[in-house]
Amino acid sequence: MVNEEVAFLVAIKIGWKDYYSRIRLRCNFLGVLWRSRLRLRTCSTFSVRYNANKSMDNCAFCNADGDFLIVPQQGRLLITTECGRLKVSPGEIAIIPHGFRFSVNLPDGPSRGYVAEIFGTHFQLPDLGPIGANGLASPRDFLVPSAWFEDKSYPGYTIVQKFGGELFDAVQDFSPFNVVAWHGNYVPYKYDLSKFCPYNTVLFDHSDPSINTVLTAPTDKPGVALLDFVIFPPRWLVAEHTFLPPYYHRNCMSEFMGLIHGGYEANADGFLPGGASLHNCMTPHGPDTKSYEKRNFTVVGVPYASLLILSLGCCHLRAEFTSYYQFLDSHIIPSLPYSIYQYYMQESKGNEGAKELWHEPCNETCWEQLLSEFL
Ligand SMILES: [Fe+2]
Repeated sequence: MVNEEVAFLVAIKIGWKDYYSRIRLRCNFLGVLWRSRLRLRTCSTFSVRYNANKSMDNCAFCNADGDFLIVPQQGRLLITTECGRLKVSPGEIAIIPHGFRFSVNLPDGPSRGYVAEIFGTHFQLPDLGPIGANGLASPRDFLVPSAWFEDKSYPGYTIVQKFGGELFDAVQDFSPFNVVAWHGNYVPYKYDLSKFCPYNTVLFDHSDPSINTVLTAPTDKPGVALLDFVIFPPRWLVAEHTFLPPYYHRNCMSEFMGLIHGGYEANADGFLPGGASLHNCMTPHGPDTKSYEKRNFTVVGVPYASLLILSLGCCHLRAEFTSYYQFLDSHIIPSLPYSIYQYYMQESKGNEGAKELWHEPCNETCWEQLLSEFL
């Protein structure tokens, strides 16, 4: 892929195909679309990585099925929409609601990142509950584009539309970005993740990852999201008598996680920027043995008591050079033959692009050396 020209649209297609081929279903692209359509009926979300090195020239995409949430990890995206243009850098996210035509240029050359697709609902800010009026993501920090248009002849301009899980092409001789002005509240937008105001414990124990929700796609069931997008930005972790790395757990949400920059405190060596992991619904997971032993923060106090509820002294950790996110999906990822599926991607070096390192089908060996350490 590194030596081929891959536009953003093609990268998403490859992401779909990659997603399924990696789990050994060995389906061709039509099979991928078919499965995407199945997901449209059953799970209502879809998460992939993209790895693009070519701008979408003379081409625009329109997703009639669902909304895109795009998380660039490397290389900016210049997204032209019918409402105007958004320049989206790593550390920012973009949301393209379904029905908008858009085209992606790569001003920095190759770009890679992640895309989530949701069906049947839209992203919104979470209810803050007892937090009150302020905190987490603030409405003032979401930016929408100013109107931008071009009045040019574009012979052979192609519109690719995703409709019902299938792709259709239409050719026209003018730019679709010919809207001179707009008003309303259904528009593409972007958000700088560094604006996020994180919350967590100030005395003991952990909060659930949902405390870091930037945007949520709600369902009809109160308290259950179709998809939560959560961010773990640079932050202080402070707690007494608490095991500070992410604790060992199972949960009802399926966790698709990506690393934007820095390291992940629960996986000391293996999880690199651009990589991704998936821990499916009710699959136990937690820090690898090395992270557990190292713990990577100041500890003052008594030894721990057990793996699940650990008794430590007063500790603090400044997670300073990291930023990772999770797509929390309330459904099981049905096509996976394994509950745990992790893969990592090395950082790109120059124009060589990314070299991938795959650990499959799961990386349970990272917990093999964990000891039962009851007092
Ligand atoms: Fe988790």
